[in-house]
Amino acid sequence: MNFNKVELEKRINELAIEIWTIKLTDMLAWWVVSDVYSAELETIEWENKQIVVKYTKENISLWTIFSEKDRDYSFADIQATHELDMDIQKILNVKTPKIIKHFSEDNITLMENFANEDYKLLQGCIIDWELPFEASKNLWESLATVRYDLEVNWSNFKQVEDSGHQFDERFFELQALLYNWRMDKFNKIKEDFVAKNRNWVMWTDWDQKNFAVKPNGEVMVFDFGRSVICDPDFLLPNLLGHLGLFTIAWYIENPIEFLKSIQESFMRKYKFFNSDHIFNEQKFINYFTASLIHRGMAMRWIDTRIANNIWEDSMKWACMAFWDEVFDKENPVESIEELFSILETIRSLAEQGKYKRPKVR
Ligand SMILES: Nc1ncnc2c1ncn2[C@@H]1O[C@H](COP(=O)(O)OP(=O)(O)OP(=O)(O)O)[C@@H](O)[C@H]1O
Ligand SMILES: [Mg+2]
Repeated sequence: MNFNKVELEKRINELAIEIWTIKLTDMLAWWVVSDVYSAELETIEWENKQIVVKYTKENISLWTIFSEKDRDYSFADIQATHELDMDIQKILNVKTPKIIKHFSEDNITLMENFANEDYKLLQGCIIDWELPFEASKNLWESLATVRYDLEVNWSNFKQVEDSGHQFDERFFELQALLYNWRMDKFNKIKEDFVAKNRNWVMWTDWDQKNFAVKPNGEVMVFDFGRSVICDPDFLLPNLLGHLGLFTIAWYIENPIEFLKSIQESFMRKYKFFNSDHIFNEQKFINYFTASLIHRGMAMRWIDTRIANNIWEDSMKWACMAFWDEVFDKENPVESIEELFSILETIRSLAEQGKYKRPKVR
């Protein structure tokens, strides 16, 4: 059974009866896995405290299921992702939202609202042009730390979702795009991601909706529930690929420097933990491009305001131009330098209106 807003509020008040009352206010998110609400909490200690309630439903909405395969495998045990989220958060050495109360049986967590500490969602910071350059260093240091903490502790966590099915769900559109033309690329990317020879549970959801940033550049990280056993090298280019999309849409000041700073800070910090790590440039290029184009082409799970600067259809055409060059059969891109330089060119062409489609009569 899934609780709606009224039932959820009632349930929390039942669970925590002696101490507080809670009133759910706005719904902040209702994506694949959880419903997230802002709420007002009253306890002996606090009066009218602004908090956030995350609730993971028993059944996820039908529109997020692509196939029977998804229903049977990938999302079969989706409630378990909530517990995994909490368990992972406990072992991390990075700033995460403070948990006020976690009701394990009902998959309900009450936590501090990060806005109380002047944090704002990374996506909002970008769209409102409030992203401080100093955030780049903190973002990537946080990521390197999360990666390392998970590498050290992975054996404490059990795999909740199947890696192959999560990949299919993430890259649903990419497969269609590369079908018949660069299926070799798609298969290689999937083979790397699934990483049968690795057994680390890794956080795959590194994107601009799972970070919050303060005006001074400090960073908070959250939402670890969909971690699966996969290639840890996916994490950095996946997030950078998302930011590549904002770059094309003419957001972020000095975006190429920002991306480079992120990448360099990440590698420096991660090398500090693991001096044997060898950076695989080709894999980075593949994952970066895959993340950028599947999000840009489908505009799914991404704020549609992103494309407003250059028009939504322009985003798709620009993305196509990007992967056409990067995955060119005769002359594929082989260095990050070249990858970022193509991105810079496409950003500037997009801003000049090159990818705008003529109006359909
Ligand atoms: N502690 C918090 N303080 C303020 N806002 C929060 C907090 N936790 C979550 N949110 C808001 O709710 C959104 C969804 O939360 P979260 O990422 O944990 O859930 P999710 O269902 O896994 O979402 P998604 O599928 O978008 O990643 C966040 O992007 C953020 O806007
Ligand atoms: Mg999230």
